[in-house]
Amino acid sequence: MNLSIIILAAGQGKRMYSDLPKVLHLLADKPLVSHVIDTALTLQPKDIYLVYGHGGDQVRAALPNAPVQWVAQTPQLGTGHAVAQAMPHIAEEALVLVLYGDVPLINSMTLKNLCAQADTNRLALLTVTLDNPTGYGRIVRNAQGHVERIVEEKDADSLQKQIKEVNTGILVAPATRLRRWLTLLNNQNAQGEYYLTDIIALAVQEQVTIETAIPNHLHEVMGVNDRLQLATLERYYQLQQVQRLMLNGVTVRDQARLDLRGTIQTGRDVTIDVNVILEGNITLGNRVKIGPHTVIRNAQIGDDVEIFANCVIEDVIIGHHSRIGPFARLRPETVLAEHVHIGNFVEIKKSTVANHSKINHLSYIGDTEVGQEVNIGAGTITCNYDGANKHKTIIGDRAFIGSDTQLVAPVKVGAGATIGAGATITQDTPPEALTLSRVKQQTVFGWQRPKKKKN
Ligand code: UD1
Ligand code: MG
Repeated sequence: MNLSIIILAAGQGKRMYSDLPKVLHLLADKPLVSHVIDTALTLQPKDIYLVYGHGGDQVRAALPNAPVQWVAQTPQLGTGHAVAQAMPHIAEEALVLVLYGDVPLINSMTLKNLCAQADTNRLALLTVTLDNPTGYGRIVRNAQGHVERIVEEKDADSLQKQIKEVNTGILVAPATRLRRWLTLLNNQNAQGEYYLTDIIALAVQEQVTIETAIPNHLHEVMGVNDRLQLATLERYYQLQQVQRLMLNGVTVRDQARLDLRGTIQTGRDVTIDVNVILEGNITLGNRVKIGPHTVIRNAQIGDDVEIFANCVIEDVIIGHHSRIGPFARLRPETVLAEHVHIGNFVEIKKSTVANHSKINHLSYIGDTEVGQEVNIGAGTITCNYDGANKHKTIIGDRAFIGSDTQLVAPVKVGAGATIGAGATITQDTPPEALTLSRVKQQTVFGWQRPKKKKN
């Protein structure tokens, strides 16, 4: 049977106390609902419907390319009413899987197993048993252990409240029957809502079998209602990811002090020290070492690269055998070739550095092409901005730039040129020659320092 997935995301999320709709809050830098959509896609459904309401325009605007059909639910009259809004679009012969936009960590295998238990005459329900079931719908079973119905917390009597098996909200039902059941719902209950959960009793009346399954881990079915729950799921998710990395051969010095907020590919024998944040798309080659307290976002890092402590690196390509930091900042559109050394308090922006070149201390290099085997002395600055426009600096192969040099762009330093320390270079310098721009040193003998006046 074809699978259609409905993701419920119309609820308000009051307890977030936020102007941002709940499902747009981030877990590992990705909106909650995007986690659900990505997992939904792994089931290869025919279609996905996203039921939106509160802050709906904001949700649509934030996810312009989401591979979903948008279904508005206004007003929000309950989970049954929410599912009903999507049903007109769904084919007769489909199986319908209901997911929640604020339950981000539901697992693909759990859902596949659940779907496998549903067909035209069977409904599959994902349940969990909780020590403290307060707030959840309770699974009411008969003497034979068959599910009879679900009772919401607010409608439950004291005996039903003792039931510890609860409804996760996630279920799979055949579309034809589901469509009919939804038309039979009423809102005569404690919350005055159309409960999706009331379809269970209707299914039982029709001799439809209610199958149940449980998730592998409780976190899979935990919803986000407040920022504390969001943080709990973030920690769980991070630990899962980091442990997966470790099992794939990466040495992580402390599994609680690495955060992955994106996707990562790693070579063999990579080592990552404590307090590292990796964001976006990251590729780490073989034997890469990342020192402590470093943030890297969108980077392709070659084999045998070592990044020392306290670096900030974004949108950068780093070639094999290069060494970065400590305390280096590599900004977007920087491409370092192989065996490049970037040292402490060096900032590089939108520049290329060719093989075996070194920029080891206290420099700013922006909008620059650095050739091979160049040595840039401490405190060298490219003056790339004139207050209105950016200009390029081009430094030829084997150039040696003395310390504390200002390269006023646009400017070219010839191949093999030497620039004496303390120069202000405003014109292109010829290759293989020494260029100086320096006031001649003089000494005044017998000079007396001023003395403090006496009152
Ligand atoms: C629901 C279940 C309950 C289950 C619990 C698990 C019902 C009636 N109850 O209760 O059995 O134990 O989830 O967390 O289904 N939503 C809409 N439109 C609406 C109402 C809700 O899209 O009109 C969405 C919400 O955004 C949320 C989800 O449906 O993602 C669940 O809604 P919520 O109000 O949290 O349901 P509960 O009362 O917790
Ligand atoms: Mg509710």
